[in-house]
Amino acid sequence: GRSALLNGGRSTDPSRDPAADARLGLVFPEGFGWGAATSAYQIEGAAKDDGRGESVWDTYSHMGRTRNGDTGDVAVDHYHRYPEDLDLMSELGIRSYRFSVSWPRIQPDGTGAPNQRGLDFYRRIVDGLLERGIEPMATLFHWDTPQALQDQGGWEDRDTAYRFAEYTEHVYAALGDAIPVWLTVNEPKTVVQNGYITGHHAPGKNDVPLAYQVLHHLQLGHGLAVQALRATGSTARIGPAFNLHPCYPADDSAAAAAATRLYDGYENRLYLDSALRGFYPEDVLADQGPDSPFARSIRDGDLAIISSPVDLLAVQYYTPIYVTGTGETEMRHATTEAFWQQIYPDGMYDILTRVTREYGPIPLTVTENGLPCPDVLGPEDDIDDVERVAFLRDHFAAAHRAIADGVPLESYHVWSLLDNFEWDQGYEERWGLIYVDYATQRRILKRSAHWYKGVIASNMV
Ligand code: NOJ
Repeated sequence: GRSALLNGGRSTDPSRDPAADARLGLVFPEGFGWGAATSAYQIEGAAKDDGRGESVWDTYSHMGRTRNGDTGDVAVDHYHRYPEDLDLMSELGIRSYRFSVSWPRIQPDGTGAPNQRGLDFYRRIVDGLLERGIEPMATLFHWDTPQALQDQGGWEDRDTAYRFAEYTEHVYAALGDAIPVWLTVNEPKTVVQNGYITGHHAPGKNDVPLAYQVLHHLQLGHGLAVQALRATGSTARIGPAFNLHPCYPADDSAAAAAATRLYDGYENRLYLDSALRGFYPEDVLADQGPDSPFARSIRDGDLAIISSPVDLLAVQYYTPIYVTGTGETEMRHATTEAFWQQIYPDGMYDILTRVTREYGPIPLTVTENGLPCPDVLGPEDDIDDVERVAFLRDHFAAAHRAIADGVPLESYHVWSLLDNFEWDQGYEERWGLIYVDYATQRRILKRSAHWYKGVIASNMV
């Protein structure tokens, strides 16, 4: 039956699955928004073109802290090659394209008058999308904080949230007529955890208490951006983009259950409760303590701003987390090239149904899901990423099951359209549906892209 297909072990079998492209016969709702996602720093390159300022990722990638010393200086040169990339999206039949606007292209120093040449680039993108019948979905912040603001504290400083709302006004004024869906902040948790706790992302700090002050300011920035967009009278739909991790106890002890509950507070409820219900979870507040930078950064009225009504919630799902009684994590399923990822399609079902049950009814979009593969360009220009096909098939099937069980999921964006700069992992981790030969910048459809094209055309997995 269906559950056997969903969870029959094929996706967790590390061996190659020759039948990965076979159809499961699962038909999606009419008009389902099949899409793909990217972000500015990961694809654009053109780091010094048209008045762009520097971001924290320019600084960080030039500090030698990325794999092979890779930087986003050139990336996949999307800034110049976007017409070809838009054509490739057309060829695949993509209906919704999620991209991000680079703050330092719009405000090179993070404040003041907007840089028209930066805005013009995104005008070319959105016009090109609309001409091709592809719906633009714009993310306002995908981690590229202007370095000039970082020099004054960046998101450690409350003022950055207000600067972000001003930047949002500039972007909306220039592009608002053409963009029906706005996402405010992408994965605030990743900035908190990787940027301020482990330090393997920009700005590369190791300061746990400070991390949760940053979290509060990112959430505040989200709320202020929602208010700035609303104030325009826009009818566009607005929401945050959270990476959610279903957390499961590693065993059936009471200690594991308790540790999992708190872990879930940090991974999921901190973001969901504040944005959708107007409070931070009591257990996390208690764990941080009343004198923590987190608690002290919260002012009267902030939670009302953070919980400004939104129209949709963007969910990004990649991996589950298993938590032991001592709060350690364990890997339970097949792991991937990404050191933090294990393959568990049912986690997609669990997180979508949970969000609907506990925070709904609110329309959902999956704004990221994907797998890195050791893709090799074959002699016939073929890239046989059968593992990615199997991964996507099983995660689409899990989303389909969630829809069948009442989850109002509207669209699904594969991460990523193209191979790109995977942050600290540089270019070696390939996440794209489309292969990029970095020596020539040639784009080549992978097996997964051909397969996805068929899924979109038939609206069926
Ligand atoms: C989440 C991020 O938003 C994106 O930038 C990143 O490349 C993918 N996950 C894969 O790690």
